[in-house]
Amino acid sequence: MSEQGLRPETIAAHALRAVDETTGAVVPPIHTSSTYARDGNYIPKLRENYVRNGNPTLWQAEEAIAALECGSSALLFASGMAAITTLLETVPAGAHVVAPDVMYYGTRDWLKRLEALGRIRLSLFEPSRPGALEAAVRAGGTDLVWIETPLNPTWDVIDIAAAARTAHEAGAILAVDATATGAVTTQPLKLGADIVFHSATKYLNGHSDVLAGVLVTREQTGRWRDIAMLRTKIGAPLAPLECFLLMRGMRTLFLRYRQASANALTIARHFEHHPKLERVLYPGLASHPGHAIAVRQMTDGFGGMMSFLVKGGFEDAKRVCTRLKVIVPATSLGGVESLAEHRKTVEGPASPVPDNLVRISVGIEHVDDLIADLAQALAGL
Ligand SMILES: Cc1ncc(COP(=O)(O)O)c(C=O)c1O
Repeated sequence: MSEQGLRPETIAAHALRAVDETTGAVVPPIHTSSTYARDGNYIPKLRENYVRNGNPTLWQAEEAIAALECGSSALLFASGMAAITTLLETVPAGAHVVAPDVMYYGTRDWLKRLEALGRIRLSLFEPSRPGALEAAVRAGGTDLVWIETPLNPTWDVIDIAAAARTAHEAGAILAVDATATGAVTTQPLKLGADIVFHSATKYLNGHSDVLAGVLVTREQTGRWRDIAMLRTKIGAPLAPLECFLLMRGMRTLFLRYRQASANALTIARHFEHHPKLERVLYPGLASHPGHAIAVRQMTDGFGGMMSFLVKGGFEDAKRVCTRLKVIVPATSLGGVESLAEHRKTVEGPASPVPDNLVRISVGIEHVDDLIADLAQALAGL
């Protein structure tokens, strides 16, 4: 329930408020103006007077996402990576950062770049090893614990409440990349996280036609005000047209996410013991190492993301992707159409991702068509 007493499905369907107060429009207007006039006393009519600082279309989208994540404020950025790199700008010079060793490779590469430049000290932990996060955090010395859950592309699940306790005991903040939860199945801020991040390019938009990122905070701290200031100075807010498209996508968020979750669970169970597969990685399967935490933490489905470990190796996994006829061989995730990707080809030889891993973003198509497509692709190996 939001502060206004609305359930998340209602917040998303209305993009917070269905009717524009000035015009009665049921679809929110797009404020494309880059500048806003001052009144007769030379006071800005809006709380901001230039689009890089903010605008009504941006604020409406931000308020809806903040309400969905039970946060006090949200900031939308021109991409997920713009949001992540802006947050990392607020880590004091030389401070210690802790993050998982397998995670979205763009974030890992950026953390490693900051480490190589001497800007931060970095400890990467193995998320599936009990106690690894606690061992990596240094009491009084760690500034930021960054986790991702479920983790791209192994879909390991990290216990957010436990990570928050560890971070806070050490005097650090916990930020969670919750992109794969779609803001539907887990609310990290309620579990103790300080900041939640989404690549809004994914489930929040859901139609593979917007690039966007969002940070949501539990409390409006000095650090949060710094992030907002940096977004303005760097010039990274999401543009009004994209905000509109994002809100249009969010109106069907819960329907899309739940259908993708249901499809993914059916596919994971169907292929779990397939003779051409070494393993199916999906947090909804009892065989997944993160299943017990997922049952507690993912309260509205296990999401649409899974990976297949194909018997054979690099070339066999790649061949599965090229043989698919319905599922599109493309990067990204969280859209209505299913996508498959050979991650090692994309991430490069230095990546810790297994050579035989095919990542699948399950969409909302009829599940029988997806099963038939995957079956014929595997049959050709
Ligand atoms: C888990 C995760 N985090 C962050 C990002 C980066 O987001 P963007 O591509 O919107 O910059 C992605 C993109 O694939 C992602 O999957």
